[in-house]
Amino acid sequence: MTGLRSLALLLPLLLGWASGHPAPGRRSFHKLLLISFDGFRWDYDQDVDTPNMDRLVKEGVKAKYLSPPFVTMTSPSHFTTISGRWVEEHGVIHNMLYNSDKGWKYDFKATQNKTEWWDNGVLPLWITAQRQGRKTASFHYPGGGAKYDGEPVQRSLVESYSHPDSNETEWRENIDIVMDWFKKEDFDFVTLYYGEPDNVGHRFGPETENRRVMIQQIDRTIGYLREAIERHGLTEHLNVIITSDHGMTTIKMKPEVTEILLTNYVKYRDLVKFDLVDYGGLGMIEAKPGQEENLYQALKNAHPSLHVYKKEEFPKHFHYANHKRALPILMYTDPGYNINGRLILHINKGDHGFDNSVMDMKTIFRAFGPDFKKDYLAEPFDSIHIYPLMCKLLGVTPEPHNGSLAVTEGMLRDSSGQNPGSATASKTMHNVVIGLGTVTAVLFVLFIAAVTYTAIQRKKT
Ligand SMILES: *[C@@H]1O[C@H](CO)[C@@H](O)[C@H](O)[C@H]1NC(C)=O
Ligand SMILES: *[C@@H]1O[C@H](CO)[C@@H](O)[C@H](O)[C@H]1NC(C)=O
Ligand SMILES: *[C@@H]1O[C@H](CO)[C@@H](O)[C@H](O)[C@H]1NC(C)=O
Ligand SMILES: [Zn+2]
Repeated sequence: MTGLRSLALLLPLLLGWASGHPAPGRRSFHKLLLISFDGFRWDYDQDVDTPNMDRLVKEGVKAKYLSPPFVTMTSPSHFTTISGRWVEEHGVIHNMLYNSDKGWKYDFKATQNKTEWWDNGVLPLWITAQRQGRKTASFHYPGGGAKYDGEPVQRSLVESYSHPDSNETEWRENIDIVMDWFKKEDFDFVTLYYGEPDNVGHRFGPETENRRVMIQQIDRTIGYLREAIERHGLTEHLNVIITSDHGMTTIKMKPEVTEILLTNYVKYRDLVKFDLVDYGGLGMIEAKPGQEENLYQALKNAHPSLHVYKKEEFPKHFHYANHKRALPILMYTDPGYNINGRLILHINKGDHGFDNSVMDMKTIFRAFGPDFKKDYLAEPFDSIHIYPLMCKLLGVTPEPHNGSLAVTEGMLRDSSGQNPGSATASKTMHNVVIGLGTVTAVLFVLFIAAVTYTAIQRKKT
């Protein structure tokens, strides 16, 4: 009867395995990965073959396009996504950290470490989620390297100066690292950032072969992500949102147009104390003491494609200028016109920062995972509504914000007013049934083996 005895020994082990796997009822939410590909214009997948992104449309949610906040720049827009607040409310109003009194500026990468630029009293989702017991991490996502209300993001990797934007091998390694964070270390919420296709869009322009080649690299990376999720057994446990911060448009140059060069209209030496220009379609200037009106008058009608305002008069629908960091004179341009200060360098063939109602500034929203509907095409929406959606997915109570869950919850499988845990509960039940089924099957095989073994033993004696 050796066979039956070994069966008896195995039984507790098998039952232990069944109850420890898949940890039924431990959580009432799924994990969430937010990925941002910087500067991915809404229609970039329409003139390139993107089999993986096309597959995602069938297997998840796609919005026709996504509207970023104004100003359509990297740090302001990313911080709106992670906080659900308008730019003038979260205060990250530019990529540059600057001080108009002292005259210094720090660029995008240098700001990543600088808490004083990011922490203006509005909590990003990492911190809110942590305070409600979630484990969160940021991989190169703008703002992830700062402390908020004294608290750092539990794990944060900050992009270094020398970090290459487009190394596909490294992109895949980063996905594997993030999968390990979810799988081995049980992180609940991770934000992952890639600097492309922004870089290539600036350098070569959006309507180029270089940009199309980069979109194919991104598409392969999304394919790799799908594989990695499956390989790590996360398919039923991880929701993924793929989005971006703004689009890209081709910069207009002479002789096609008259370019905007501020020094043509104002005597810099007499009127300008500090300026933040040469960054696409938004500019801010502070006048020398007593010169504000002169500066404003000199710029107001300077160029037909340049729209100049005193701070208080800047269009309210942009939700942009009502912050102490905004300089006294603000201006924005028609799409494609760069605001140049003292000289025109023509470094960029493409740029962003323009009016967020312009189609070339629109960006992407894709999502898939256990909580998202399949083959669901959503109407265009503002990126500010991603925040309440993420809170809902993570089971986190949001901070006060400017988004609305009503805009995005139609994408969710369980959006018909049922209690939020029910899909998960039935899934857990399903897993338990599968687990018990497996145990029964194994027991049956062992039983047959034992009976056969016993029969053979009997024959021998
Ligand atoms: C961020 O801070 C760390 C530690 O102070 C430093 O080593 C790193 O170079 C900084 N990164 C950037 C992009 O400034
Ligand atoms: C790309 O990244 C991989 C993995 O991190 C590294 O081994 C390789 O040297 C990088 N290639 C370039 C051209 O930097
Ligand atoms: C944005 O949300 C904050 C916090 O709830 C609120 O104080 C503010 O008035 C809102 N802004 C707008 C424009 O609705
Ligand atoms: Zn960007």
